[in-house]
Amino acid sequence: MRLDKLLAHCGYGSRKDVKKYIRSGEVLVNGEVILDDDYKVNEEVDEIIVFDESVSYQNKVYIMLNKPKNVVSATFDNKAKTVIDLLSQYKNYKIFPIGRLDIDTTGLLLVSNDGALCHKLLSPKNHVDKKYLVEFDGDFKQSYYNDFEMGIILDDGYKTLPSHIEIIDEKKAIVTIHEGKFHQVKRMFLALNMKVINLKRIEFGPLVLDESLKEGEYRLLNKEEISILTSL
Ligand code: URA
Repeated sequence: MRLDKLLAHCGYGSRKDVKKYIRSGEVLVNGEVILDDDYKVNEEVDEIIVFDESVSYQNKVYIMLNKPKNVVSATFDNKAKTVIDLLSQYKNYKIFPIGRLDIDTTGLLLVSNDGALCHKLLSPKNHVDKKYLVEFDGDFKQSYYNDFEMGIILDDGYKTLPSHIEIIDEKKAIVTIHEGKFHQVKRMFLALNMKVINLKRIEFGPLVLDESLKEGEYRLLNKEEISILTSL
C-alpha cells in the first residue's frame, strides 16, 4: 500500500496533510526517513514511525460507543450530528454503526468497518440479544410478565418474539429482546399502555456496555471481545 494512503487511513490527516509530513521528514519506515509519498509499504511487516510514534495499522476496527442523545445512528445526516461525527478520529476507516438506536436512546452502539460481522449481527435469523434499561411511566401489571414472555402485538399487528422483563422498581425495568424492529421497546410498552421515558442499551449480543464510558465516550474493543464477536 502507498505510504500516504496508509497514514491517512490510520487517522493522521488527509492525504494532503500526510504528504506534507512525509516530505518534511517526519516519517520513517524500518528506521529510514522516507520522503517519497508514493513509497510502497507492506503494512503487515514494515515498522512505520510518525512523529516518533509507531503506527499500528488495523484493517478492521471495532468501537464501543456509549451513544448520547441527539445523535443519529447513521453515517450521514443533513441536519443532525451522527455517531460517525463523534468518532472523527476513525473516519478514514469507513466505519458505520452496526444497527440503530433512536436519536433519544443512549448506550451501547457498536461501530465498525467489518461488513461481514455487521451482516451476522443484524441478520434476523441470528436473533442477537439486546438488553435495555428502561425508565417508563404507567402501571406495570403482573400479567405483563406473561405478555413479554409470550410476545406482544404491536400497533401494526406484528407479534414480537418472546422477550423478557425484569422489574427493578416502579419506574425502571430491564428488557431483553431478540430482534430489532423499528422503535421496538417503545412500541412494546405503548401496546401495554405504558410510555418509555428513557431508554439505554446495556448489552448487545455478547458485548456489555463498559460503564466507565460516559455518554459520548468510546473505546476500541479488546482482543477478547473481538474474538467472541467474530466467532459468533
Ligand atoms: N427500541 C426502541 O424503541 N428504540 C431503540 O432505540 C432501541 C430499541
